Amino acid sequence: MKLSRKFWMVMFLAVCLVIIQYHLTSSWLVAPASASNNVVNIVEPVGSEEMLRSAVERLQVDSAVTASVGEKVIKELVMQLGRELGIGGCGEVSAPAIPSKPTYPSPTLYIITPTYRRPEQIPELTRMAQTLMHVQNIHWLVIEDANTTTKLVTELLKRTGIPFEHLVAPMPEEYKKRRGPKPRGVSNRNRGLEWIRANATKGVLYFADDDNTYDILLFDEIRTTKRVAMWPVGLCTKFGLSTPIVQDGKFTGFYDGWVAGRKFPIDMAGFAVNVEFLLKRPKASMPYKAGFEEDGFLKSLAPFEPHEIELKANNCTKVFVWHTQTKSNTASAALDMSKYNNTNLVLLKQQIV
Ligand code: UGA
Ligand code: MN
Repeated sequence: MKLSRKFWMVMFLAVCLVIIQYHLTSSWLVAPASASNNVVNIVEPVGSEEMLRSAVERLQVDSAVTASVGEKVIKELVMQLGRELGIGGCGEVSAPAIPSKPTYPSPTLYIITPTYRRPEQIPELTRMAQTLMHVQNIHWLVIEDANTTTKLVTELLKRTGIPFEHLVAPMPEEYKKRRGPKPRGVSNRNRGLEWIRANATKGVLYFADDDNTYDILLFDEIRTTKRVAMWPVGLCTKFGLSTPIVQDGKFTGFYDGWVAGRKFPIDMAGFAVNVEFLLKRPKASMPYKAGFEEDGFLKSLAPFEPHEIELKANNCTKVFVWHTQTKSNTASAALDMSKYNNTNLVLLKQQIV
């Protein structure tokens, strides 16, 4: 057979197959508009491969070349039809696909984040939220140092799709008025602990400030905490680190720029606590003592000693969190309404501190 004849024969065969496919597909799918439910009726495609094969055979293909092409096309068609209709390639009707439930790593991580109104608040929370959106099975407790919740924060939280609580816990007036370092985020964190005591039975809690930088790998490290776990925190200071010191796989002490007689000289971002372990210590809380918040809280978890610390981040050899600090800025100037009324700036200014 001439080459050009073979070519036209293959083309003819392909056109026939498309027509056959169209007919088979439209007769299999019977979905009347008046159907009482949304289930698409699938008529069992008895021997789909046989039907296609006999159709091709009827074309009396006599060349070995076109036959092998036809064979390949049949196989491809049968596979495609099977995929589209969710049936086996040999005309068998496979079990209907049951949507599998998403499986989340357990237990739940309770992430307690203190926050307060300032120019950097929404940018910091946006960054943090979009990190946490990559982490499964978390419950985010965002607690504002304020008397009422901030609408922009609520809107941001809703958009993330992360299960959250938006609570308030203002710093007591006596500490607000005090000169010098203030116990920042303490009322918020204690409110978070109160919520956990009232609502959680198991899981792991972590104090995650709104201005730090989190590698998503950290959260899988935290999840396995049985009692109290610790790991290195990167600091952008001369000391550079706050971490347990590990030698021969064992905890031997702490490395931190400011020890100040603390039993647990570790950064707030450097430890997590199992919820059941916490619940067995009903008095555990964070003291309003600037600089001693972590130490005070960890000491309140007694009985618990440093040698019992679970070492995370590959025996404390990896940095998965940084205690970053954003330069604090003054609030933006009020908008000149005589000049910018009826412009986009009015709406934009409502989103800025
Ligand atoms: C860290 C600790 O998180 C503080 O608890 C601790 O007091 C401090 O170190 C320290 O050891 O001196 P730092 O990064 O210095 O804090 O302070 P911020 O990031 O400003 O505050 C910590 C958290 O509390 C943040 O999530 C922040 O949003 C929140 N915060 C701060 C408030 O809720 N209210 C405030 O008035 C200030
Ligand atoms: Mn901070």
